[in-house]
Amino acid sequence: MERLIVSGGKPLEGTVRVGGSKNAALPLIFATILTENACTIENLPAIRDVEISLEILAAMGASIRYLDRTTVEIGTRALKPILPPPHLVAALRASTYLMGAMLGRFGRAYVQDFGGCNFSPRPIDMHLYAAEALGAWRQGDTLFASQGLTGAILAFDKVSVGATVNALLMASAAKGTTVIENAACEPHVENLIVFLRSMGAQILRIGSSLVVEGRPLHGGRCSVVGDMIEGGTYLLAGLATGGCVTVTGCEGEHLSAFLSLLSGGGARVLIRDGRIALSGALSSPILIKTAPYPAFPTDLQPQTAAVLAAHMGGIVTEGVFPHRFGYLSALETMGLSFVKNGSTAYIFPSRLIPATVTATDLRGGAALLLAALSAKGESVIEGASYILRGYEDIVEKFSTLGADIKLIKENEKGS
Ligand code: EPZ
Repeated sequence: MERLIVSGGKPLEGTVRVGGSKNAALPLIFATILTENACTIENLPAIRDVEISLEILAAMGASIRYLDRTTVEIGTRALKPILPPPHLVAALRASTYLMGAMLGRFGRAYVQDFGGCNFSPRPIDMHLYAAEALGAWRQGDTLFASQGLTGAILAFDKVSVGATVNALLMASAAKGTTVIENAACEPHVENLIVFLRSMGAQILRIGSSLVVEGRPLHGGRCSVVGDMIEGGTYLLAGLATGGCVTVTGCEGEHLSAFLSLLSGGGARVLIRDGRIALSGALSSPILIKTAPYPAFPTDLQPQTAAVLAAHMGGIVTEGVFPHRFGYLSALETMGLSFVKNGSTAYIFPSRLIPATVTATDLRGGAALLLAALSAKGESVIEGASYILRGYEDIVEKFSTLGADIKLIKENEKGS
């Protein structure tokens, strides 16, 4: 198992450029299946989930050509509607997008054991509801739409990023008009809309609904939006260590709920000329309630909870994935004092100490890393592969901020 060795307790200072958003890049990659023309995606992050997604497409016959370190050209003319490799599909949640993309292109798709961080159940009932509403039917683990997909009204009873992505992929290739009610509006969903429009799709956002006019789709081009979650994580690292980190490459407005909550708690926020800086200390407890964008993002909940512990504590209510608190037991090993009641955790001011802990999911792993950077002494984070799924060049980026951090690969002798 890969592990990170961190010698914490030093203030982190400096500037980090974040990469393209993981949760934007993955829908774009699978959306290229919708057309047999070549597509180009820029600002791709160098993360494991992108590698695995490209590997899935290549295994199905697509051509993948990197034009430079972050730009890839994907050609799916030779792509076949074969069963995507199960071991790769099981490695990430975004493989659910194969259903929408393959139904849209081939009228056939597979319901497989899709992956995803296991901090909570990850159902796909909304994805299947959308596919069936657009004319697909299920036989065993195969979805068929042999007459193609037909536009429909999709009334989602809750906001789901993934179900909105799959609905957009299918609706863009369907005949006629689709209305997606209660659609997600995360920056990564908007990024997909821009890409689909570049492929010829007609998509209109009206309030919380999306109206999609199906079209034959051609090759498109798009740049991945900066990763607001990566950016928020680095900003929190400055706060966790009493330093000041500046991030570039992501939009301040994408983090407005997160930043305004921290500045309300006493931190200093500076947003200017594409740079976001966070410094100072939290002088009062913070109340976090996560919800779909533009509210406080669930993907920054574990990391922020770790930082609250090193300051004045707070109350964290998880409104998207009620069980997303698995990381608290590992933080308890590092001195965190908390009480949990259902989907709410009460975080008390704690003196964090170094320890050996194990990450069990991506953002929970990032929370352990922030705690290790804050605690004076050497910590070891096992299960670092979870963190590498969503954070590119993490050792290089934290080292430029002054962190003492090493990645020990499988079977490598660590220090
Ligand atoms: C995406 O997951 C992200 N993953 C998650 O980021 C993120 O936490 C989540 O959106 C919320 O923003 C990717 O984009 C690859 P949802 P997704 O569908 O699409 C329920 C990270 O760390 N639901 O918006 O799976 C679901 O249980 C990852 O980068 C159903 O009930 O999340 C949850 O309670 C972790 N039925 C709520 O909807 C369904 O069919 C929102 O989930 C689908 C979802």
